[in-house]
Amino acid sequence: MNELEVKIPAAEAGSYRICIGNRILDSLWKRIEADFSRSNKFVVTDENLVSEGHLVALLGQRNVPSFVITPAGETSKNIDTAVSIIEAMEKAYLGRDSLVVALGGGTVGDIAGFAASIFKRGVPVVHIPTTTVAQADSSIGGKTGVDSSISKNAFGAFWHPAAVYIDVATLTTLDDRQFRAGLVESVKHALIADNEYFDFLESNIEAVLARKADVLERMADYNCKIKASVVEADPTEKNQRRMLNYGHTVGHAVEAAGGFELLHGEAVAIGIIAAGLIENEMDLSEPGRLDRVRKIFEKIGVPITLPANLAEDNLIDLMKRDKKAVNKWPRFVLIKEIGRVYCRDGQWAVEVEQDVVEKILGKL
Ligand SMILES: NC(=O)c1ccc[n+]([C@@H]2O[C@H](COP(=O)([O-])OP(=O)(O)OC[C@H]3O[C@@H](n4cnc5c(N)ncnc54)[C@H](O)[C@@H]3O)[C@@H](O)[C@H]2O)c1
Ligand SMILES: [Zn+2]
Repeated sequence: MNELEVKIPAAEAGSYRICIGNRILDSLWKRIEADFSRSNKFVVTDENLVSEGHLVALLGQRNVPSFVITPAGETSKNIDTAVSIIEAMEKAYLGRDSLVVALGGGTVGDIAGFAASIFKRGVPVVHIPTTTVAQADSSIGGKTGVDSSISKNAFGAFWHPAAVYIDVATLTTLDDRQFRAGLVESVKHALIADNEYFDFLESNIEAVLARKADVLERMADYNCKIKASVVEADPTEKNQRRMLNYGHTVGHAVEAAGGFELLHGEAVAIGIIAAGLIENEMDLSEPGRLDRVRKIFEKIGVPITLPANLAEDNLIDLMKRDKKAVNKWPRFVLIKEIGRVYCRDGQWAVEVEQDVVEKILGKL
């Protein structure tokens, strides 16, 4: 099992461990018992993790109090589910010495992490991420939250995990579209932080798509190192961490304008191509770079052009409402070269004229 240490000034213990392995779920509970011997454990998962056998693989015959989120997915990511989790913990006589164990994708991780952050003023959470999104992105970084009826992650807290345990074998049961869309965050990591990782993804994309364990482990290792180093430098997103928003300014607008029919990663793929077109307009690109990005997305099988039914005006309007907008216009993360973000006047998200954005939307 490969292990990394993430040093987060904001985390209670000052740092936490990320363990990456293949087929480790069966033996993981013993490890968690050893790492957190004094805590009473409570597991949060969802119905699909149960039906795919992952909860039984983790717990075996042990009788551990747990909460199964039903239905799985974003519709359950709300305050009512967080309340139900907290009340289930109370009914199980759990107190401040509890440890929440989140087994699942980003939805489970975000809800369970949020419930942990407010239960008895906060108890630790460990993540066992089981999707390509969660293994590359959501389990590391400490953002937790649930949606309101009006917006995503309206309730939330920074609550860094006490540990993250990644078993790449859990990905073998993940739906193909979810698996592929989640890979977009990995391509994003490579583009903003590591050109060698981009080369690795280009040369190994078929093995990734075939879910070959050794390649998935190396990918997890790259992702965790990149996300961890950005989070270590800026644990509560004051500036540098914004680079993780690459492709997300247009991506979020595309996601919302399409009525959330595209998966997040699919919309971000379009957003990353949009960022590439902006880079071309601003002379930040080099020949062939955008084609390389398009090619890897084509192989992954995510869209690289706007869906035909999206109105451009609507996209511009949605961008003006971007939560990171300044004076009703968002800033854009751009790259200077593969693996290096363009930073201007110490800012990792820069101003781009609305005209330029309108122009590139016409080419997307
Ligand atoms: N906190 C963060 O920093 C952060 C970052 C990115 C995304 N997110 C959040 O994560 C959520 C999306 O997460 P996601 O993409 O992992 O989706 P998800 O957790 O909803 O999982 C997608 C589907 O796959 C199922 N599933 C999960 N693991 C499985 C497995 N191994 N085998 C079979 N089925 C499995 C789930 O039950 C669900 O139906 C969103 O709410 C998003 O806001 C948070
Ligand atoms: Zn994202």
